[in-house]
Amino acid sequence: MKLAVYPGSFDPPTNGHIDIITRASQLFDRVIVAITDNPNKKPFFNIEERKRMLIASLKNIRSVEVDSFTGLLINYLGKKKARIIIRGLRAVSDFEYEFQLALMNRKLSKNIETVFLMPDEKYTFLSSSMVKEVALLGGGIKDFVPSIVERNIKQKIKNGQ
Ligand code: PNS
Repeated sequence: MKLAVYPGSFDPPTNGHIDIITRASQLFDRVIVAITDNPNKKPFFNIEERKRMLIASLKNIRSVEVDSFTGLLINYLGKKKARIIIRGLRAVSDFEYEFQLALMNRKLSKNIETVFLMPDEKYTFLSSSMVKEVALLGGGIKDFVPSIVERNIKQKIKNGQ
């Protein structure tokens, strides 16, 4: 049984994340999408809100489950008896951070491997932070995120976040 963990902040989930999860689900028997807060980023949605949006957006992929964790990713992998981390690579600009993260995780736990997947090229410009910025400034985000995410962002902005 090949198990992989796709960690991230998913704040909010975008179509690029869904594309990576779909690809991962075709390569692994089970994929756990693991949400956590990135200490370098101020959260827009809380973890429960992100979890609900991901579950709704992934309801058609049966081999995927959505979970959350705190603390080190490698400890979470240990708890789940997983050794594969999935990360998406959109462009060369992602590489440096991803390279550091992958090697740090391998240093912390030598059995961990990081597998990089590339999304469809139509998503290479997409990021959660850009989606938030566009939405906050009144731009349309329909093409970039699942419909539940679009609704929730609009609602949050309407309610003054
Ligand atoms: O979607 P993101 O914000 O790029 O994801 C980054 C994430 C969540 C994968 C990374 O911050 C992470 O693994 N956080 C958990 C803490 C940890 O294990 N850090 C790695 C060693 S520095």
